[in-house]
Amino acid sequence: MGLMKNHGVLERHSLLLTVAILVVVSIGGIIQMAPLMYMDNTIEKVDGMRPYTPLELAGRDIYIREGCYVCHSQMVRPLRDEVERYGHYSLAAESMYDHPFQWGSKRTGPDLARVGGKYSAEWQVDHLKDPRALVPESVMPPYAFLADKELKFDDIEDRLKVERFVGVPYTDEMIAGAKAHLVAQVDPEADFDAQDELIALYEAAAGREGTVEMRDYDGDPTRITEMDALVAYLQMTGTLVDFSTYQADDIQNRR
Ligand code: HEC
Repeated sequence: MGLMKNHGVLERHSLLLTVAILVVVSIGGIIQMAPLMYMDNTIEKVDGMRPYTPLELAGRDIYIREGCYVCHSQMVRPLRDEVERYGHYSLAAESMYDHPFQWGSKRTGPDLARVGGKYSAEWQVDHLKDPRALVPESVMPPYAFLADKELKFDDIEDRLKVERFVGVPYTDEMIAGAKAHLVAQVDPEADFDAQDELIALYEAAAGREGTVEMRDYDGDPTRITEMDALVAYLQMTGTLVDFSTYQADDIQNRR
């Protein structure tokens, strides 16, 4: 009862109440923030994470340009229903090379953090061209024009440089070879040296094999279209970390 009586004092003096609220909130804030200041890195390092290949990066730029994030998030929350629907919850490391990140909170459509490999590339292309042909109740707009637009990638080296400027570890070889690597990924008949280099550089960055897929995506091997780039990006989302071997690092053991 004594506590209630003293509380009455606080409730009747708004200035006192404000000060008391500030004290309580700061204690909570300090408890939450102080440990972060003593950690070298708050992002756990995970095998498999590598920078986007030039083709994937170009595709990601189209994803952002077209505003796909307006209807799609890219973060699987650590809640049971999410994990059962989409797979392992998203790790911080999985978006560490994302500038800007695409976490989002709007889900008119499903989360896309792990959509890579969920469908075939053909399905992705058909769905983007005409969503209602595959999912009759869909409210997603059609993006058929992407298959008719040639991908512009004259500036791809500069795009990689900008990413490096904000902290993505693109090497000099990755930047110098960006154009050749972009073409090599989407054209299976392309220059084999560029293909080997693409695989070697990006798998070395990933620390594991099999993270770079090479193929024509849009069904038209004679041209490199925006559809190729976007589908290359979609098909790799969420596939870099191998969750059959991944084990969450205990925060206690990381200091
Ligand atoms: C107006 C909202 C809206 C926009 C904008 C939108 N989508 Fe969708 N999307 C949806 C809805 C709703 C669904 C679920 C029905 C369906 O599969 O078509 C969906 C489904 C999808 C799926 C299948 C996901 C799954 O797990 O089944 C993919 C992939 C996808 N969208 C990609 C994109 C891309 C890429 C863009 C941008 C070029 C985009 N969407 C823009 C609403 C949207």
